[in-house]
Amino acid sequence: LPASQARAGAERPTVIAHRGASTYAPENTLAAVDKAAELGISWVENDVQRTRDGELVVLHDDNLKRTTDVEEVFPGRAPWKVKDFTADEIALLDAGSWFGPAYAGARVPTLEQFMDRLELHHQKLLLEIKNPDLYPGIEEQTLKALANEGWLDTDHLASRLIVQSFSPDSVRTVHELKPTVKTGFLGTPPTSELADYADFADQINPSHSSISSDYVATVQEFDGPHGRPLEVFTWTVNDADTARLVAGYGVDGIITNSPDVVRDALPEE
Ligand code: G3P
Ligand code: CA
Repeated sequence: LPASQARAGAERPTVIAHRGASTYAPENTLAAVDKAAELGISWVENDVQRTRDGELVVLHDDNLKRTTDVEEVFPGRAPWKVKDFTADEIALLDAGSWFGPAYAGARVPTLEQFMDRLELHHQKLLLEIKNPDLYPGIEEQTLKALANEGWLDTDHLASRLIVQSFSPDSVRTVHELKPTVKTGFLGTPPTSELADYADFADQINPSHSSISSDYVATVQEFDGPHGRPLEVFTWTVNDADTARLVAGYGVDGIITNSPDVVRDALPEE
């Protein structure tokens, strides 16, 4: 479906830099946040996990192997799970060299450092609580961290923060602990179950390969916990044709590693 046939009156989807502008800089690092800002992208997605000593850090995998030099720095510590390392140990790791020599020395940021960098650029955060089953209480802890950094003030709550998870229990917990926070469920629930999700999630955020124009329209017919239509942010769309396709479906947001490509593919409003 060409973008010109998008739903009448549909707004241009929000573009969200997935793990930062992760095509161009190592994912979930401050460099990836800076790259998104440089490209003029205000929304950044990240993934939050917890260290052995209870610090929230920004990393996609529950394991440090793929994106750091942990095997060289701590050779005897297999299987190198985030939850088995302290924050000070993780701060020693190089989270950039795997991506390219220009990023040697990039670190795994704490959530606090990540939020500070977003604040510096006046950016917005789509925060994913990753693997909540591994980290009991991470929802409450994340909300406290957000509050401590000023991310639960009126301005951030209104337009600069969404908390999402693949775990419906985790999304529901965030909503119940802090009903003013906008939330998203990652997945593609059957339409027969959307009314249940609409009790605690403001967004349904599915893989782009799992959706159709009809599915998106059906989701948007439900009102979420704040009385507004459910939104759909779809992932991970990295090419212009797919961006135009899902924009034609009427999605509200597109989560992408290449936010410049997606933005430039979308028609002007
Ligand atoms: O934000 C959507 C997307 O991040 C979900 O998948 O594995 O990249 O966290 P994943
Ligand atoms: Ca994610």
